[in-house]
Amino acid sequence: MDFPSELIQFLKKAERVSVLTGAGVSQESGLRTFRDAQAGLWAQYRPEDLASPEAFARDPKLVWDWYAWRREAVKGVRPNAGHYALVEMENRIPTFTLITQNVDGLHRFAGSRNVLELHGNILRVRCADCGTFTEVWGDDSESVPRCETCGGMLRPDVVWFGEALPRAELEAAVSATREAQIFFSIGTSGVVQPAAALAHAARNKGSIVIEINAEPTPLTPKTDFAFHGRSGEILPELVKAVWG
Ligand code: OAD
Repeated sequence: MDFPSELIQFLKKAERVSVLTGAGVSQESGLRTFRDAQAGLWAQYRPEDLASPEAFARDPKLVWDWYAWRREAVKGVRPNAGHYALVEMENRIPTFTLITQNVDGLHRFAGSRNVLELHGNILRVRCADCGTFTEVWGDDSESVPRCETCGGMLRPDVVWFGEALPRAELEAAVSATREAQIFFSIGTSGVVQPAAALAHAARNKGSIVIEINAEPTPLTPKTDFAFHGRSGEILPELVKAVWG
């Protein structure tokens, strides 16, 4: 891919870069994006209808089982070339913040260090009542496992629709956005708030905004540069074009 020389120069000189990623970044690792069709047994449900406190209250076992299915999928995959290109970028840029909506932990797995997980992590489980984290739980074939401390139901440590984002992560993401000279939006449909607003905030304060996504999004007309294709291909090419 040909990158404008102006962009290459901006990146070479950049001191503060922030990146927002979404499910598209993990697609080439073999994970479904959030708004992709569900598979098999789950095809009859919309993810939006399972990822909510209301869904958990209505049918906790259904929600637990959906996350157990997704957790197993996450355990079976590895980071892809896009994740590794972002590690390389972090190595080259003095202040680099990776803000992710992904709950799969693949950025850290690849070696990214300054990662803000805005929507939690699917591999962590906590009590829905007392918040105690646990790494082991009993048989979940009949019902949702219970917390050993208080007897409450266990749930994934992810942010559901209608729930607040973790405060420290959100505040750090807002400040990294404010300070960024260059802001990337990668592999995200940009429709879920407040994450989607970060790119607009970056633009409003004068950052250079770059999108890398399989297809155009509502953000595209507002970007300075937009590249449409697979992030696992475009990101390594960009890193190579800038830093050789
Ligand atoms: P989406 O599934 O909404 O969007 C994924 C985006 O990635 C789409 O725009 C695809 O075109 C693009 N895409 C797919 N494959 C790609 C590839 N190989 N390279 C580059 N782009 C690719 O996922 P998110 O935007 O991450 O939150 O969704 C945001 C949030 O919505 C999720 O974190 C989740 C959901 O609500 C919660 O559960 C709180």
